[in-house]
Amino acid sequence: MSSTGASILVTRRWPEAVENALAKKFDVTFVNASLSRSQWQEAFSNYDAICPCVTDRISADLFPDTGIRTKLLANYGVGYNHIDLEAARSRNILVSNTPGVLTDATADLAMTLLLMLARRAGEGERQLRSGNWHGWYPTHLMGTMITGATLGIVGMGRIGMAMARKAHYGFGMQILYHNRSIVDDACVSEMKAEYFSELDDMLGRADFVSLHCPGGKNTHHMMDAGRFACMQSHAYLINTARGDVIDEAALVEALGKGQLAGAGLDVYEDEPKVSPGLANMENVVLLPHLGSATTVTRTAMGMRVLANLEAFFSGRELPDRVV
Ligand code: DGY
Repeated sequence: MSSTGASILVTRRWPEAVENALAKKFDVTFVNASLSRSQWQEAFSNYDAICPCVTDRISADLFPDTGIRTKLLANYGVGYNHIDLEAARSRNILVSNTPGVLTDATADLAMTLLLMLARRAGEGERQLRSGNWHGWYPTHLMGTMITGATLGIVGMGRIGMAMARKAHYGFGMQILYHNRSIVDDACVSEMKAEYFSELDDMLGRADFVSLHCPGGKNTHHMMDAGRFACMQSHAYLINTARGDVIDEAALVEALGKGQLAGAGLDVYEDEPKVSPGLANMENVVLLPHLGSATTVTRTAMGMRVLANLEAFFSGRELPDRVV
């Protein structure tokens, strides 16, 4: 018997420690599958709270108009552009997320992509595994120097800042950033990070560009054909933010034309589909949305969801309220 009596639907399996903690407090159902429209409607009618994740696209048509029991969508993840917030708000459903606990894991993965691109690690591994490595020679898979190169950060929030610090203090990179406004922070000053109000201007100066802005309509296709044309032809693009920040078809075209040197992607416009063409390019590194995928981080994300559920069902303010 749960201690609160509240019934919770969780759409995917979570790390065991969090599932156990959740089950002690609530009457939990784990689905581990994509729900159909009628299953979503049923879920909204039958559960006090639902815990979705980025894989669940919760558009307005999935919410029933009447008979809604659900009072909270406690999202497992920091990004929430997969949830129609207006549809939730208009039905008095609160939405929470999990900020702060996946900052370093995501920045680490962005750095992984940067390193893999610059040092052609994917190409090298594919060559070796396929039996096509025939020994050392001076011109073999020569890559790009990272130390001292210039990194342009798009979105200097928590994750962008963590990426900037790792790149600057770990690899001696010079930091440029584009953000809605100048970031007033001692670390930004110490790194001498240079602010660009115009993204195009920064793109023309960076050797690597790493995206860390939120998804959603304001950033949809922010990186489009015009923006790729602004990049330097030796520069690399890294995306651990949201897939639709990049116009993927335009990226394939720009890579084909040599407008940029390569791309490292962890997120895609239509996950888990990947635009045709990308998988055949040697200068592209493709990861399956692994930004937060460490055991510690995924456990912390679950615990953060639990903290929001506990707050809600004991009548307290949500620690991470989005709506
Ligand atoms: C996040 O937390 O937003 C990750 O992308 C997984 O949802």
